[in-house]
Amino acid sequence: MFEPTDSPLPADEAAAQLRGLLAGETDPLANAANFVAFLALQLPDINWLGLYRLAGDELVLGPFQGKPACVRIPVGRGVCGVAAASGETQRVADVDAFPGHIACDAASRAELVVPLCREGAVVGVVDVDSPRPDRFSVADQALVEALAAAYLDTATPL
Ligand code: SME
Repeated sequence: MFEPTDSPLPADEAAAQLRGLLAGETDPLANAANFVAFLALQLPDINWLGLYRLAGDELVLGPFQGKPACVRIPVGRGVCGVAAASGETQRVADVDAFPGHIACDAASRAELVVPLCREGAVVGVVDVDSPRPDRFSVADQALVEALAAAYLDTATPL
């Protein structure tokens, strides 16, 4: 769907490119949209990828690529809500085995959710879904975490 590269960049190189893409622009929505589009180019076999921002005790849908998705997710519910509640990345090999998984796109089989933390507080999550079971490696997790950190360093999050 996203025509990503077959040879993903090393995490540090991808993070440097993302910083270059976002630096110089101050609009939070524009930078969030470009962060998502950039991330989509780094990862093959993805059916949905995007941001949720924390608003009170809910996550609210932000920029994404893929099918229309659930707009509001209570903190603590689903893979995204658990990542937001715990502040810890959730790397799920089989979404059907994750208690409370929320099926926005029925094609999703594996999921990687990285919390966005600023000054010690969660401000949102990055959610990446794949139709391939066990799609995400430790290296994929490190890549998405490095890009999330570069986004938070360079841009004001939504
Ligand atoms: N599967 C997620 C919901 C968001 S969609 O995948 C876009 C979850 O369980 O939190």
